[in-house]
Amino acid sequence: MTDAIQAPVPQDRVLIFDTTLRDGEQSPGATMTLEEKLQIATLLDEMGVDIIEAGFPIASDGDFEAVTAIARQTRSAVICGLARANFKDIDRCWEAVRHAKRPRIHTFIGTSPLHRAIPNLDMDQMAERIHETVSHARNLCDNVQWSPMDATRTEHDYLCRTVEIAIKAGATTINIPDTVGYTAPRESAALIRMLIERVPGADEITFATHCHNDLGMATANALAAVEAGARQIECTINGLGERAGNTALEEVVMALRVRHDIMPYTTGIDTTRIMQASRLVATVSGFPVQFNKAIVGKNAFAHESGIHQDGMLKNAETFEIMRPEHVGLNATSLVMGKHSGRAALRSKLAELGYTVGDNQLADVFVRFKELADRKKEVYDDDLVALMQDTDTNAANDRIQVRRLRVVCGTDGPQTAELTLAVEGTEHATSAIGDGPVDAAFKAVQSIVPNDARLMLYQVHAVTEGMDAQATVSVRLEEGGKIVTGQSADTDTIVASTKAYVNALNKLMVRRLKTAPEAQTA
Ligand code: KIV
Ligand code: ZN
Repeated sequence: MTDAIQAPVPQDRVLIFDTTLRDGEQSPGATMTLEEKLQIATLLDEMGVDIIEAGFPIASDGDFEAVTAIARQTRSAVICGLARANFKDIDRCWEAVRHAKRPRIHTFIGTSPLHRAIPNLDMDQMAERIHETVSHARNLCDNVQWSPMDATRTEHDYLCRTVEIAIKAGATTINIPDTVGYTAPRESAALIRMLIERVPGADEITFATHCHNDLGMATANALAAVEAGARQIECTINGLGERAGNTALEEVVMALRVRHDIMPYTTGIDTTRIMQASRLVATVSGFPVQFNKAIVGKNAFAHESGIHQDGMLKNAETFEIMRPEHVGLNATSLVMGKHSGRAALRSKLAELGYTVGDNQLADVFVRFKELADRKKEVYDDDLVALMQDTDTNAANDRIQVRRLRVVCGTDGPQTAELTLAVEGTEHATSAIGDGPVDAAFKAVQSIVPNDARLMLYQVHAVTEGMDAQATVSVRLEEGGKIVTGQSADTDTIVASTKAYVNALNKLMVRRLKTAPEAQTA
């Protein structure tokens, strides 16, 4: 098989390896459904991500299915799966990624003293294990990545020795993870430089950098590694990932674009899709983006102070180092009102990155009109919330909210009257609660009894103003499985109830998948 990515990478080209679906999803609570993973993978592929790490196939049947489905459907990106250093993991990984046009196996083992103690291998035994497992992976696939986990705390001599073994065994990419987010930019660069200088065969392969953000240095460390010779950055949308997260894709990509004068490297990313990706990952994971987050935060391009506004009106460059439209934010986000037509809606959605067919447009148009009736001004963010709500609360969901009426006030308990359709049959009930959300949730529970534990309930205003839509995330845990439901509505209680029902729908899908009959099927 020929693979452009395995040919020597042009000196100024940096490959973007996105691990939102693997390292990002490992973030507690960020579990995603198969459909959500497919949606994210499609967008990553379209926006020009070079390698998508789609999951850890041996981890669960769900992970295996997701990696397989992503491998089957992705058009351009290399699809990578993660595997520990054993044949069973590697075989399972290959079984999933082999469906891709361009598959990659990523195998790893912890090489630092603390990590070596876990499998209880001495240095020689671990070296032997690396040789065997990378050779095995390479016999299956001609695109193999190897990672010495906790590389930044591994003795340099031993790191060089293991990297050399992995290269000799056939690894085509060597990833250097800063697993615990411990390194600093100068050290990150020195480590890559040292490996390039000392390891025989280093010039034949691509070095990658994989940084965690525990000390807030993940972006700086990744860029320093690139300056020292790494040509693959591992990152996630919004910096999602375990603990403080990973290097944020949007940060490294925009840093390389804006400061091309001092970092003359290019990526293949269409930066105008960044906001779309950020919103999608925030919604699906239920991890909102902090307002002042670089590039994708709500305030990243907001100029509130009088001095700033005055300067911006005279010349945008006074306070802006990049244009909002470069990351997919439109200069004006005011959309349309209730008199806007279908064609205008279709073209606005296309501008926001949504291609809709006639049937979907008809459905979205009805919802848009309902929203425009309730809300004077409909902004881009409102439309994005509406589109995400259409995706998450689908017409074929097993449980659907039909009617909700909540009575609340300062005196007396709050009451919710609710009608749900469960598998097409309507059930009505009423419940009293400690507040309107509690009453509504209790009503849902009386129709759909469940033991799921509420882990997170979160409300965000989509835009400013008293008539703003609220997006609500509800995270539930049942038997160790975690799902996040979302919904958006101008009525916060309606959005909350729909988000709760959305999470229950996801739990039902998971229950069916893990039922014994499903496993033997
Ligand atoms: O942080 C890390 O070390 C990892 C490896 C599996 C590459 O995610
Ligand atoms: Zn990691």
